[in-house]
Amino acid sequence: MTETPSAAASPTSRTERGHDVRVRREGELGDSVAPIIRVSDLQKTYKTARGELNLFHGLNLQVEPGEMVAIVGQSGTGKSTLLHILGALDAPSAGTVYCASTNVAQLGPRQAAAFRNREIGYVWQFHYLLPEFTALENVAMPLLARGSNKREAFAVAENWLKEVGLEDRADHRPGELSGGEQQRIALARALVNNPRLLLADEPTGDLDESTAGRVFDLVERLHVTHGLTSVLVTHNMDLAGRCSRALRLESGKLTPLAV
Ligand SMILES: Nc1ncnc2c1ncn2[C@@H]1O[C@H](COP(=O)(O)OP(=O)(O)O)[C@@H](O)[C@H]1O
Ligand SMILES: [Mg+2]
Repeated sequence: MTETPSAAASPTSRTERGHDVRVRREGELGDSVAPIIRVSDLQKTYKTARGELNLFHGLNLQVEPGEMVAIVGQSGTGKSTLLHILGALDAPSAGTVYCASTNVAQLGPRQAAAFRNREIGYVWQFHYLLPEFTALENVAMPLLARGSNKREAFAVAENWLKEVGLEDRADHRPGELSGGEQQRIALARALVNNPRLLLADEPTGDLDESTAGRVFDLVERLHVTHGLTSVLVTHNMDLAGRCSRALRLESGKLTPLAV
């Protein structure tokens, strides 16, 4: 799956973003802060050759704005499926899923694409950068694809390369970058549209320990400076321990985890 290109935004618009989030919260509830993710009684059923696979059993999740939540769990428990559902890349079979003020289950394909463009930055275990394009072009791609003018898109992308510390790699193709550098570029591309939510599926899973730590440092910094709410799937308990809280996906449910 590929992330759909997204709205232009400059990394300098943090203040606006903070303001934006506050306005939306007030607009929703009139008083207190509304959760940015609210999942109730989620179910997901896959039809397989061996019959139905019920992945979740009344799964609930609430994430407040600004939280950085780690999700851990054994392979095959449905972590990626949960992120796909939160990011409107897959539909729930039952239950309610509110994500960034949107009932994602009710979105049609075009609305889902627009929702992802606006609200979601997605990072995967493998970077999925386009090999024939430079780092700068990869970061600018979501802006170019939605019709931003080239000069503007490259200026914004260049700022993002600076933010992830790779301005001197602008002309490199993904094959000429290390694994850690590729993930930094993937992060810049995910955030170039200034989304509210960062969903990351084992973003450091393919990296050695020290590189993973440094990429995670960057995720943490971007999370704070851009006022993001982040949900990260990881197998690394040290990294999970650096999040606001950690949850384990097991037997179809999320339970708090002491890390
Ligand atoms: N499109 C699909 N059709 C059928 N089964 C699927 C599909 N996607 C995932 N699954 C199954 O759902 C389970 C959970 O998958 P996944 O969400 O990728 O788990 P995790 O990310 O925790 O390893 C796995 O058993 C997987 O085989
Ligand atoms: Mg997975």
